[in-house]
Amino acid sequence: MKLRLSVIGTGYLGVTHAACMSSLGFEVVGVDNDESKIAKLKSGTLPFYEPGLEIFLRDQLATGRLTFSTQYSALSEADVHFLCVGTPQMESSLAADMRFVESAIKELANFVKAGALIVGKSTVPVGTAQKLQTLLASSACEAEIAWNPEFLREGFAIEDTLRPTRLVVGVTSDRAEQILREVYAQLLEIGTPWIRADLPTSELVKVAANSFLATKISFINAMAEVCEAAGGDVTVLANAIGYDPRIGHKFLQAGIGFGGGCLPKDIRAFMARAHELGANQALEFLREIDAINLRARQRVIDVVRNFLGEELKGRHISILGAAFKPESDDVRDSPALDIAAQLHAAGAVVKVHDPKAIANAQARFPNLEFSNAVADCLLESDCVLHLTEWREYRELDPGELLKLVRNPLIIDGRNCLDSKLWQEAGWKLHALGRTNP
Ligand code: UDX
Repeated sequence: MKLRLSVIGTGYLGVTHAACMSSLGFEVVGVDNDESKIAKLKSGTLPFYEPGLEIFLRDQLATGRLTFSTQYSALSEADVHFLCVGTPQMESSLAADMRFVESAIKELANFVKAGALIVGKSTVPVGTAQKLQTLLASSACEAEIAWNPEFLREGFAIEDTLRPTRLVVGVTSDRAEQILREVYAQLLEIGTPWIRADLPTSELVKVAANSFLATKISFINAMAEVCEAAGGDVTVLANAIGYDPRIGHKFLQAGIGFGGGCLPKDIRAFMARAHELGANQALEFLREIDAINLRARQRVIDVVRNFLGEELKGRHISILGAAFKPESDDVRDSPALDIAAQLHAAGAVVKVHDPKAIANAQARFPNLEFSNAVADCLLESDCVLHLTEWREYRELDPGELLKLVRNPLIIDGRNCLDSKLWQEAGWKLHALGRTNP
């Protein structure tokens, strides 16, 4: 008989995983204690934006294989439980907040059947899986723990789940590996690399991968700082070094740096955990990665001041982009919004546009002004900041926009506008890390 699955936590990761597993033919129940979220999901409405996922969710609901519930009792028949709850940064420290993982496990323990496999997908401090296994044993729950980190990127959620770059499974028995091979059989058939690891290594793989990606971005942003000082161009530099296959072109886009719900909090939680383990020296460099990243935001504000003068009070600043990256409405630790909020705090009149993230941005920063149209956002502007590289911003007509602003100045915080096009239309364009864009 086909395995029955459950997914605990129906955030970004959980909904995607549940719908994708259903598309592989499994019966899946998604459980979350957020009633409004579950009500939306049941009716086929996605509580966030992800390209293609809402229609995919509806298709899966229509098969009857995918269901949602607020009750943990709904998962008592499942053979495999995927733990997909959030592990955000704590307010008081760099460490990850493990409350959601701990409460989910306690609830689960009341309902799982003997022999069930609990598979963690959340990003957790190394050692968590072992701790949860001990916790389960002490509550006389005969379930086994495995860890299967998730590498999906927002904007590519379905693609990354159904055609992942690799599958990593942390297990303590052949039986657990066999069950996971059964779950992912169709992905194995298409040649997905399979890596069996122990529990701590599987937990570390995820934070190591995100630390590497963060390092790559901060590396190129550090080069941008040097290019600015030396009169160079970081985009040419990135292109040139990227041809070395050991370096590669990906993740070398210089600009205002990384944000989102993963990279920033993952490197911080990794440092905090290494400290607990007495390995803090090994990750000291991540402190610098974080500092370079935050400095990139500050550098944009310095550029604005260079052009408009120290006093920003009353100056009109238009911000294109609020999401932490395009094709997402996620504003968690968004560099764009951080910059907007800092300029607002300095007295500027800040107006923000985004194709998808305005509602989320407004909820987080109710004091900022928002526009649904680029033209409205740019009206009477003294300075335009391009901070999230949505395709629609690359397709704007700089000639048309020139008529709206007070001062035709644009700062490209993502290094992806066509500088010649803007300059020829009469704009002054400044790009991070480029002396003569
Ligand atoms: C990341 C990892 O890529 C993914 O594997 C993991 O599962 C979750 O964290 P995500 O947060 O969706 O995914 O976004 P990602 O595409 O990695 O971008 C992260 C941030 O880095 C964004 O703010 C993006 O704008 C920035 N970035 C990315 C750059 O500044 N320059 C680049 O070259 C690439």
